[in-house]
Amino acid sequence: MTSPATRFDASRFDAAAGTYDDDPHHLDIARELVAGLHATTRPRLVVDVATGTGFAAFAALHALDPQRVVAVDVSARMLERAAAKAPTADPDGRIEWRDAPAVPLELPDHAADVVLCASALHLIGATAPPEWRRVLRPGGRAAFSIPVAADFRPSPEFRATLPTDLTLPADEAGAERIARAAGLVPVAVRTTAPVSVERPRRSFLVWADAPW
Ligand SMILES: C[S@@+](CC[C@H](N)C(=O)[O-])C[C@H]1O[C@@H](n2cnc3c(N)ncnc32)[C@H](O)[C@@H]1O
Repeated sequence: MTSPATRFDASRFDAAAGTYDDDPHHLDIARELVAGLHATTRPRLVVDVATGTGFAAFAALHALDPQRVVAVDVSARMLERAAAKAPTADPDGRIEWRDAPAVPLELPDHAADVVLCASALHLIGATAPPEWRRVLRPGGRAAFSIPVAADFRPSPEFRATLPTDLTLPADEAGAERIARAAGLVPVAVRTTAPVSVERPRRSFLVWADAPW
């Protein structure tokens, strides 16, 4: 059976890859998500799920100084854009770009200190958070964003491609419940500021720990 995670059609993001970085909206979300991690020890492994052009992966590299980052995405064109930035943004090559699905992650259980998923959970679906929990070490931290239900207005064509197993949250409590349902323990939740009155595009940002 095909899972919601593997049904995703990468062609939409392949087509958008050339201009994706022109809109600062997703960069702002990725940076805010990483800034809220407050890591006290140097992570050995950060995983950036659905990395796109690498916003969260690069932000984590600079903010957390991890030994290694694994960044996965199913869009080869988005990954090409990410890799093109790497010579300056990741000069010692600590980020590994993988053309691979979000679920399953090709990583052993409990291998990661941090799992990031910026602006992509609504595209992947409900199978993603349990997979983050599987790869996180006890005490490791997940950080994810998800659109505020009232602000998410995709075209009917785009909506038809989205997973049906995940309901977008209406409020911060609903966003936290996504983490709890996967066995993660929410430690903070925040709502991003509206981008504009006409198109607010707010997201919930959630930070949650794998239990010890
Ligand atoms: C809106 S972009 C977000 C990219 C990046 N995380 C950011 O913050 O800018 C969504 C990305 O999710 C990727 N994606 C969607 N479903 C996926 C899946 N099942 N596995 C891996 N990547 C996926 C798309 O290819 C796209 O690059």
